Amino acid sequence: MKVSIIGGGGLVGSCTAFALQTGKIVRQIALLDANTELAAGQALDLLHGSSLMADQVITSGSYEHIPTSDLICITAGLRRKPDESRLDLINRNVDLFLGILENIQRSGCKRDATVLVVSNPVDVLTYLAAERLDLPPARVLGLGTQLDTIRFRALIAEQLAAPPTQVKALILGEHGDSMVPIWSSATIAGLPLEKFPGWNAHLAGELYTRTKGSGAEVIKKKGGAGFAVGLAIQEVIEAIALDRHAILPVSSVQRGCYGIRDVALSVPTLVGAAGVLGTVEVELWPKEVQALRKSGQVLRQTVDAVLDRLKGAK
Ligand code: 2OP
Repeated sequence: MKVSIIGGGGLVGSCTAFALQTGKIVRQIALLDANTELAAGQALDLLHGSSLMADQVITSGSYEHIPTSDLICITAGLRRKPDESRLDLINRNVDLFLGILENIQRSGCKRDATVLVVSNPVDVLTYLAAERLDLPPARVLGLGTQLDTIRFRALIAEQLAAPPTQVKALILGEHGDSMVPIWSSATIAGLPLEKFPGWNAHLAGELYTRTKGSGAEVIKKKGGAGFAVGLAIQEVIEAIALDRHAILPVSSVQRGCYGIRDVALSVPTLVGAAGVLGTVEVELWPKEVQALRKSGQVLRQTVDAVLDRLKGAK
C-alpha cells in the first residue's frame, strides 16, 4: 500500500509517517507538503532509519504522488490557538482544505483510493471531502474521536495505575467540545470500570473534561499534538492496509446509525481494505444516544453555516 500524507512536512504528518515506518505494514510512504524542502527533510530523516525498520519506500514531493496513492491522509491545516475551539478554526481551514481537495481531484486519484481526513475541524472537513471528492462514500473517512479515545484510555489508566493497553473505553460523536464519553461499555482487563479499585463517579467527570481538553493542553505545552495523533492515524491506516475489519471510532457521513443522518461524526465503524465497511450500532445508555444526537446537531449547524458562507462567497 502506498500512503501519501498531505501536510507531511508538519508535526502531525511527520509523526504519522514515523508511526507508519515503525509499524512496518505499509510499503510506501510519501510526504507531500507545500514546503517541499521541509517534506524532503522529514523523508530523508525517516529514510536514514529505514535499515533498522522495514523495506519501505520513503519519498516526498507534491501532488504527483496522488495518482499512484492507495491512501491519502490529509493532515495539512492551520493549528488551533490554545483558547480557540476546533470549530473556530473552520473558516481558516475550510478554504485551505477545499484547495487541497481540488488539487487531489485535478491530480486524478484512483477510484479505489481511500481518503483519511485529519485536518480540523475534522468532522466538518470529512463531510466536505465526502461531498466534493469523486469517490464512493465508503472511501472517505475522518480520524474523528479515534484520538480522543486513545487519550481517554491513557488518562483512565494513569489515574487508576492500570495497564493502558487493557483499558477499553470509547469516545464517540464530534472530535470537539460535544464529544461523548461512553461509560456504559468501559472496562479494564474485561472487568467493569466502575467496579475497579480506586474508581469513583467524580473521576468520570474529571477524566472526560481532561480528555476533551487534551488537544488544547498539548497545544499550550508544546504547540500541537504529534506522537499520539500519529499512532491514532497509524491504527486506522493499518486496519485498511491489512483489511482488519476493525471496529474503530472514526468519522464518516452517517446514514441512520443511532438515528443520525447527513453529518460526519464518530460511531463504532468497521474499517477494512474498502474503507468504511459499515457501522456497529450497539445499544448504549439513552443519555449517551441523546448526547450523540446532540453532537450531530451541533455539527450539522456548523456544516450549514460553512455551506452558506461558501454559497455567499460565489
Ligand atoms: C488534537 O486534538 C490535532 O485535533 C487534534 O490534538
